[in-house]
Amino acid sequence: MKGSIALASDHGGYELKEDIKEYLAQEGYQVQDLGPASQESVDYPLFGSKIAELVSRGKVERGVLICGTGIGMTIVANKYPNVCAALCHDQYTAFMSRRHNDANILVLGGRILGKGLAREVVKTWLETEFEGGRHSRRLEQIKDLEQRLGIKK
Ligand code: RB5
Repeated sequence: MKGSIALASDHGGYELKEDIKEYLAQEGYQVQDLGPASQESVDYPLFGSKIAELVSRGKVERGVLICGTGIGMTIVANKYPNVCAALCHDQYTAFMSRRHNDANILVLGGRILGKGLAREVVKTWLETEFEGGRHSRRLEQIKDLEQRLGIKK
């Protein structure tokens, strides 16, 4: 069994969420689907915050969020402490979001990516390790900035 991953979407990401859920289960990950359970219109902040909360509190190691463009979910998730949510459109952005940014939430645009590409993006993201070194220093600088601005305490 591989690690556990929580995922959620809004209606714009629902169809892709269902496909990614199937893919992750096939690959041996423990998957927690936090909804929604249908394509009915819902508000992305409500679903994005469920995943961001779990990741922020260390209840789950990684999260995947999907809305229409991925933009709304990224904005919501990045409000949370200890969360780095990266909107990725291809394998390169997925690879770099792990190597340089140590992203712990992957965000996808359900109205942007086809299922085949989205699966490849998820695979790359899950299998890529953080590079550390100078990138750790930069992540520390972001944490300092958050403290100074009084956000994400
Ligand atoms: C919903 O229509 C859409 O606004 C949402 O899925 C997302 O793209 C927001 O950023």
